[in-house]
Amino acid sequence: MASLVTKLLFLLFICSLICLSCCIPSDELDRFTSEKEVLELFKLWQKEHGREYENLREEAKRFEIFKENLKIIKETNAKRESPYHARLGLNKFADLSYEEFSKIFLPELEVITQDNLKEQNTEFTDVPCDYMPPSINWKKKGAVTKVKNQRQCGSCWAFAATAAMEGLNAIVTGRHSVSLSEQQLVDCVDTAKGCDGGWPYRVFEWVAKNGIVKEADYLYTATNDTCKPTKEEQNALTLTGYENVTWYSEKALTCATANQPITVVLEAKDEFRFYEGGIFEGENCTGTIRTNHAVTIVGYDSVGDEDYWIVRNSWGQDWGLKGYIYIKRNSSSTLGLGVCGLAVRGAYPTKEKLPVKSEYYSSI
Ligand SMILES: *[C@@H]1O[C@H](CO)[C@@H](O)[C@H](O)[C@H]1NC(C)=O
Ligand SMILES: *[C@@H]1O[C@H](CO)[C@@H](O)[C@H](O)[C@H]1NC(C)=O
Ligand SMILES: *[C@@H]1O[C@H](CO)[C@@H](O)[C@H](O)[C@H]1NC(C)=O
Ligand SMILES: *[C@@H]1O[C@H](CO)[C@@H](O)[C@H](O)[C@H]1NC(C)=O
Repeated sequence: MASLVTKLLFLLFICSLICLSCCIPSDELDRFTSEKEVLELFKLWQKEHGREYENLREEAKRFEIFKENLKIIKETNAKRESPYHARLGLNKFADLSYEEFSKIFLPELEVITQDNLKEQNTEFTDVPCDYMPPSINWKKKGAVTKVKNQRQCGSCWAFAATAAMEGLNAIVTGRHSVSLSEQQLVDCVDTAKGCDGGWPYRVFEWVAKNGIVKEADYLYTATNDTCKPTKEEQNALTLTGYENVTWYSEKALTCATANQPITVVLEAKDEFRFYEGGIFEGENCTGTIRTNHAVTIVGYDSVGDEDYWIVRNSWGQDWGLKGYIYIKRNSSSTLGLGVCGLAVRGAYPTKEKLPVKSEYYSSI
């Protein structure tokens, strides 16, 4: 008993030092092993996330799921081989089963098997690769708005698309990015399914025809709503359309990212859900890829021998690395799929005026 109290006090002490916003530190999780200790950990987690349950039955059910998730997190962390390797943590999703989580957040987009890969060879207009700096970070250049939160709605596709459009707009105008409305897309894009999923390239097609207003002019509600009319003078962006990035090529993706932020889709599994930091390699994405999540690549870089993508997610700033995830780049994945299929369906919006070379707008 004394040792449990000591452990908890120690943990609270660590928390008060380093977790201003959140988080029971992942390297402290191994200290909680017995059922009783794990229950204390659960209580602590509930407090941290302000989570209360309707009744004891629900609480007991959530505790069972929490234990299962804790086990996965501990096991995955124990397998890390390098300090750069991704760590998982007990984040705000720790009381949901993967089935529950994916039902809300991860509507399936496409199933990519080794067999149907070959049939999908399409022609691409490759971006000229004459400018490819060793690293780029559009966030540091002021072309990325702060990380948003899609909440309980499968609208990742809208958030991935607005981030790419906000980026392009900032780059072309040379001004700081202006936040665009996801709710307008959720309500109005008839080639997507609102909170039940969609494709970012469908957004670019739609915006090229209809335009899009600022976030403040059409607020996010995280629900499927009816499309509300907007005035022409509210339009915040004109697009000519979009391009797909050459499929199965991380090199093409790198060249494209050197010009502007890019939307990609991938398969998000538990390793992605509980990501806390480090470079994510998606070890469990093997064989058939079921893409179920859209995100935006806003840069790339390297550390040691490891190349990685800088990826903006839409699960709030309290997820991952302040809302971001680093994903391994130049992965040796079969057929150039990239980690969890990330190199398969990249796309980006286009404007008539091509972006100036990035070296010139390092000041925005
Ligand atoms: C949301 O709307 C889309 C299309 O407008 C529809 O396909 C989908 O079933 C709706 N989802 C819910 C949860 O109502
Ligand atoms: C882009 O890729 C999608 C499949 O993800 C395809 O349906 C669409 O026709 C492609 N668009 C262009 C312009 O090639
Ligand atoms: C990663 O890919 C880029 C683009 O193809 C290439 O320039 C770079 O040399 C690669 N890095 C490594 C370590 O292979
Ligand atoms: C990865 O797959 C293994 C084997 O199926 C499983 O034991 C493990 O829990 C999975 N890891 C994650 C993070 O889902």
